Amino acid sequence: MNMKKIAAEHAVQYIEDGMKVGLGTGSTAYWAIQKLGQRVQEGLSIQAVATSIASEKLALELGIPIIPFAELNGLNVTIDGADEVNPELHLIKGGGGALLREKIVAYHSEKLIIIADESKWVPTLGQFPLPVEIIPFAVEWTVQSLEQLGCKVQLRTEGEQIFITDNQNYIADCSFGTIPSPLKLHNDILSIPGIVDNGLFIGLADQVIIGHKDGSVEIMG
Ligand code: A5P
Repeated sequence: MNMKKIAAEHAVQYIEDGMKVGLGTGSTAYWAIQKLGQRVQEGLSIQAVATSIASEKLALELGIPIIPFAELNGLNVTIDGADEVNPELHLIKGGGGALLREKIVAYHSEKLIIIADESKWVPTLGQFPLPVEIIPFAVEWTVQSLEQLGCKVQLRTEGEQIFITDNQNYIADCSFGTIPSPLKLHNDILSIPGIVDNGLFIGLADQVIIGHKDGSVEIMG
């Protein structure tokens, strides 16, 4: 049973004619974009923006109209994945490196629907290393400042090379083990110069759809 696909396809049922839709990034959002593409081919009329170059490319291949940001005044709904979801519906995102664009798009959406398989549901955030997007200038100093917050930092690589985001930045994956106060950590991280944003999404998710092994979906929020 593909738990990601089940959650994604459930979320896409909520999309109606005329909606302005944000497209997430990652292996779960992939299934949502596929289903939306199918519905567009069957006549659904929507306007969309994407949270990554990869998702935009997939959407265009499937015939989903991607509209310039200047032509849209916010979005009705965004469907996106997550790396961890806690009972308050706070999230860790950015495993795929798209956290900055994802957060911008989520912020400008009336509704953020998170889709995930059951492995993403956790009592406390922090087991998944928190992705932090940092600018390349003085990266060693920025990493030192992150370590002073009590984590182990791994600069993300892709093969032999440093991973570069769609925004030409780096990702520092920060292992905290547990994050008891997500909002405090979020603010502490953002107070460090050189940091663009981090993968903590606090109070942004309106609804979380979890796909289970037995084929059922659970809806929170
Ligand atoms: C992309 O940067 C991420 O925020 C993804 O939404 C998140 O990593 C979930 O990815 P999967 O759906 O591939 O697990």
